[in-house]
Amino acid sequence: GTQYRPIGKNLSIYLSPESGMDKDYIEDLLSDTGVKCKFTNFKWIADLTFDIEPDTIGLEGYRLVSNDYGTKITASDTKGLFYGLQTFRQLITSQNNTLVIPFVEIADSPKFLWRALMLDEGRYFKGKEEVKKLLDEMARLKMNTFHWHLTDDQGWRIEIKKYPLLTKIGGKRDSTQIGNWNSNIYDGKVHEGFYTQEEIKEIIDYAAKRQITIVPEIEMPGHSEEVLATYPELSCSGKPYVNADFCIGTEKTFEFLENVLLEVIDLFPSEYIHIGGDEASKSSWKTCPRCQKRMADEHLNSVDELQSYMIHRIEKFLNDHGRKIIGWDEIIEGGLSPTATVMSWRGEEGGIKAVKAGNQAIMTPGKYCYLDAFQDAPNTQPMAIGGYLTLEKVYSFEPVPDSLSTKEAELILGVQGNVWTEHIPTPEHYEYMIYPRILALAEIGWSPSEVKKWDNFHTRALQAVNILREQGYNPFPLEKEIGDKPESYQKVNHLAIGKKVTYANPYSNHYAAQGEKTLVDGVRGGWMYNDDRWQGFIDCDFDVTIDLGKETDIKQVRAEFIQLKGPYVWLPKQVIISSSVDGEHYDTLATVDNDISPDIETLQFKEFGWEGNAKARYIRYKALSNGIAGGWLFTDEIRIK
Ligand code: ACM
Repeated sequence: GTQYRPIGKNLSIYLSPESGMDKDYIEDLLSDTGVKCKFTNFKWIADLTFDIEPDTIGLEGYRLVSNDYGTKITASDTKGLFYGLQTFRQLITSQNNTLVIPFVEIADSPKFLWRALMLDEGRYFKGKEEVKKLLDEMARLKMNTFHWHLTDDQGWRIEIKKYPLLTKIGGKRDSTQIGNWNSNIYDGKVHEGFYTQEEIKEIIDYAAKRQITIVPEIEMPGHSEEVLATYPELSCSGKPYVNADFCIGTEKTFEFLENVLLEVIDLFPSEYIHIGGDEASKSSWKTCPRCQKRMADEHLNSVDELQSYMIHRIEKFLNDHGRKIIGWDEIIEGGLSPTATVMSWRGEEGGIKAVKAGNQAIMTPGKYCYLDAFQDAPNTQPMAIGGYLTLEKVYSFEPVPDSLSTKEAELILGVQGNVWTEHIPTPEHYEYMIYPRILALAEIGWSPSEVKKWDNFHTRALQAVNILREQGYNPFPLEKEIGDKPESYQKVNHLAIGKKVTYANPYSNHYAAQGEKTLVDGVRGGWMYNDDRWQGFIDCDFDVTIDLGKETDIKQVRAEFIQLKGPYVWLPKQVIISSSVDGEHYDTLATVDNDISPDIETLQFKEFGWEGNAKARYIRYKALSNGIAGGWLFTDEIRIK
């Protein structure tokens, strides 16, 4: 069996002069085990030693050897020693009331050098104690990058000395929309808050002691309503609360952004500065005379190119100051510049395009990495957006797509989780969304795919949730997880399996699921319409005909639909089921009306069907749209028995 060494209450620790390790942090980390640290300059008597040895192992990796003589941690860099310390902490256990450490030899290094979490403070300000609490856990998980989303339409959260109104006006709102984004319900409460530059320095220092780099994000040109409410002259209309995109035609916009960025780069040592770039509507640029003049002067053919013009100018400015830019994947659209790193969020395509062009990319596709999505059966969870994203699904993510060459794969810097907080007002709630899903992200970022084993990870995650609770975090209770919609676990057998389906109206390419097989493949959908098992139809009736191949006795025709008000997914107004023997003359079997209101805020499912006795070769299933513009219908399977 494994041998153990008692480590006693007093642990003598040797740090080599160039180790870069922080004594206070080591004491702090080990304090909850009951161990007291005694630092010594005499390496040969120390129980635990930290030494930098060039070429020990890859960047940020470490070797840890523990035997009768003590524990030696070696690494090529301070980060490696730090992660060796984290492993040492994890290895400490108690036997017969004595703390012990097993005899081990570990050589460990990370798969990616970008292991990150993004926190959105634009929507709700969290405050420095909560950010530090997050950084503590990220350090234990060997994550090295904190992407700090400090500005958004709903609030500017960083003090800028040159523009004090940004935090005074742009950092405060009178009321907050609650419920779905189209709810028209407001809470009537003031929300405000920002970090002073002193607090920012304190947090950067706190993160640095935990080997975490903070990458600030200053949003442009979209998601900037709070700036334009404060300085309307930077918008196309010149009026507050009209535009969310900066006017690219006026030089004042560039003067403003460069002044802001000068203060940002003075504060943050990060090599990378995130400049947003996502979801600009660009609509005001099409009619703004100043933007139109800019396009003419610069020979730009589209508003996408106008966005790229601005991103390239800001990029050059930051490059001239020794920094590099990261942007959300929309920065590709009007032409990507050579030094930009792309953060791929609308799937993996942006990241793939970027590395094929020779640029770096960070993978954070919504489907796997957006921790603001529901993590369990939606109607048992607080309001969330983006879909149904379980711990298992996060863990299944592979950041390097198979389609990449080895050289392209090297340009994938790593993986990141994002927590957007539109529906996450409190620290307790955001902890609930992050933990334990962040554990899966940390492990994908560190370990090779070959060692991934879900059952093993799940067991460890259950233990970790208990530890997180003891440490004062508020994790989702993984032990009570309900799981996906029960029907989705088992294939259903019926007469239409594999039969030909003719569509009167096409399905949307965005929600094609498995294409023409989807409705007759025996696979039922899960809790969410966007899980590639539900097929979606926009702004039309759902109208399909199934050819059973020959005249058949039928007793039942059924299909289920889904409703979720936020993303405009509706139940049909009415369903008409009819049958035919010759494909020309149809008899109506059933007409079924919907009795569920579109105003309900929660997720709804409803079956529409017919039962009886009939002979038919063709079954036509028609579900009428409720007529709300931009509305969707989603169904998973037409079941005929
Ligand atoms: C994003 O989710 N808008 C980057």
